[in-house]
Amino acid sequence: MRKTIIAGNWKMNMDLEGGRALADRIKMGTLGMDLAAELRVILCPPAVLLHDLCNRLSECSIKVGGQTLHNKPSGAFTGEISGPMLRSVGCHYVIVGHSERRTMFAESDIEVCLKANAALDARLSPIICVGETITEREEGRVKEVLSRQVRKALEGIFDFGITDCVIAYEPVWAIGTGNTATPEQAQEAHRLIRDLLASIYNAEIAERVSIIYGGSVTPQNAHDLFAQPDIDGALVGGASLRADSFLAIINATRP
Ligand code: PGA
Repeated sequence: MRKTIIAGNWKMNMDLEGGRALADRIKMGTLGMDLAAELRVILCPPAVLLHDLCNRLSECSIKVGGQTLHNKPSGAFTGEISGPMLRSVGCHYVIVGHSERRTMFAESDIEVCLKANAALDARLSPIICVGETITEREEGRVKEVLSRQVRKALEGIFDFGITDCVIAYEPVWAIGTGNTATPEQAQEAHRLIRDLLASIYNAEIAERVSIIYGGSVTPQNAHDLFAQPDIDGALVGGASLRADSFLAIINATRP
């Protein structure tokens, strides 16, 4: 059975004090919940908080992830952080290819691929983000864009690596805008991605990969999204910055 994943992407928010308080509240909240064994809750804070939060959460089931990584394990890359470094402070996940990194930091499909491979090399599970812009959707190019992004990102990742990856479908027009994809739109894209995985690997492997949705997920829309057969959780931005809304989204994974 594939995992259900609720990951909070804090982006460039929270200082040490605020991050500790938020993580503690989420930890306390999840301890009181009767969570399914296949549910994985992940916090992706800014890099300077990773070590502290990994230590704070080490006694509970919440995992910690980075928001990006460099594609090399070490070297003269001022300001960058590598996969082995993330792993050494206790991370298990890392977001790769978020649309903000693709657009604001010029991350290409090839770069996303190198980073996804670098994550796996460091024994981190990459959360690989893909998604179309509003123009691409209006031009009827969703399938073309998702196929390109997924195929390129997964180059060099073989059968044994892909089941450690998570794919996040994040339509760019839905991120931080309040315009969530409808459950039907999201399901259609997730099905498309799962079919792609079946054609690149095989149907059995495709069934085992978690595909999560991101883009204005809230406690109000989460349940209907999670009810779709190919939506295995969420990558949550804005609503992950408050414990009550993030916990409500976690709770919405229950049938
Ligand atoms: P949002 O962000 O939930 O604020 O739309 C999602 C994301 O960027 O991962």
